[in-house]
Amino acid sequence: MTSNYTPFRRPRRLRTTPQMRNFTAETDLNPNRLVLPMFIADGLDAPRDITSLPGVQQHTEDSLLRAVEEAANAGVGSIDLFGVPLDEDKDATGSQAVAEDGILNRGLRAVRERFGDDILVMADTCLDEFTDHGHCGVLSTDRYGHKIVDNDATLPQYAKMAVAQAEAGAHIVSPSGMMDGQIRHIREALDEAGHQDVSIMAYSAKYASAFFGPFREAVGSSLQGDRRTYQQDPRNLRESILETQLDIDEGADMVMVKPAMPYLDVLSEVADMSPVPVAAYQVSGEYAMISAAAQNGWIDEEAAIMESIYGIRRAGADIILTYWATRVAQMLRG
Ligand code: PBG
Repeated sequence: MTSNYTPFRRPRRLRTTPQMRNFTAETDLNPNRLVLPMFIADGLDAPRDITSLPGVQQHTEDSLLRAVEEAANAGVGSIDLFGVPLDEDKDATGSQAVAEDGILNRGLRAVRERFGDDILVMADTCLDEFTDHGHCGVLSTDRYGHKIVDNDATLPQYAKMAVAQAEAGAHIVSPSGMMDGQIRHIREALDEAGHQDVSIMAYSAKYASAFFGPFREAVGSSLQGDRRTYQQDPRNLRESILETQLDIDEGADMVMVKPAMPYLDVLSEVADMSPVPVAAYQVSGEYAMISAAAQNGWIDEEAAIMESIYGIRRAGADIILTYWATRVAQMLRG
């Protein structure tokens, strides 16, 4: 059947050539806005592959510096460093997170000494890699004899950790443990120690997510159970607005939504209400899903990566954390 109707409005006009599509694209992405999460592990002679995150490694100090250089050359704005201590160095309070010579603080110092202000150095400010029980805070026993993650007893340890990271050279600390009051506590401690210029990227809306699975391998996590008493319930949206507002009131310089792809609605609402820059973290499970499908030949990897990153950007992220940061930056530069 044919029709005599000819459209007057033809949106396809703007899709005719690559030049026309670039000219009229609504979403831009600059490598400066990308953050590369990285892992430095204690006791390694050589970098170690993380099987569930193909292409991502636990680094030695040397391989870390080489990978940071590659990221910086590609124009990536920041790295976000996580530390993986030896099992025997883990304890109940995560002391190696605070120790000047703990693996994470050593890594931060090495990167900052080498790269200065050429790339921003962000530190993960959380105890879970360093505790023998794998929780993000210290534990205590409630009146029924159950072990609980003790919010208020954790805050001083976060404050010390942030100060140690600032001392090691971090430009940005990033509290990811979802303890109430952590931003204010950390801000006060940084200021008292003379680190007024160190900024805070708050993991404000962080969900208890199954998509963190591969990360647990990446950091050799000791966790039994889950984090549902401190991370958010995936069914909630309003709660994210409250969490974000509290962090802003407590002094967060930037806020974050995590994971990214299953929470694009949250990201969009946070971006609408936030007066400070908004980041989104494309987490390990998001990376693993796309990688696994691509390895099976089921999707075009580069196209899927770019589509996922543009989706996160379009939903409202100013800053994106992704294990593909260097690769995306290189693709953007052609
Ligand atoms: C905890 C932390 C986690 C991630 C970043 N920081 C795991 C968790 O909360 O269980 C996950 C990152 C990822 O999955 O890529 N400090």
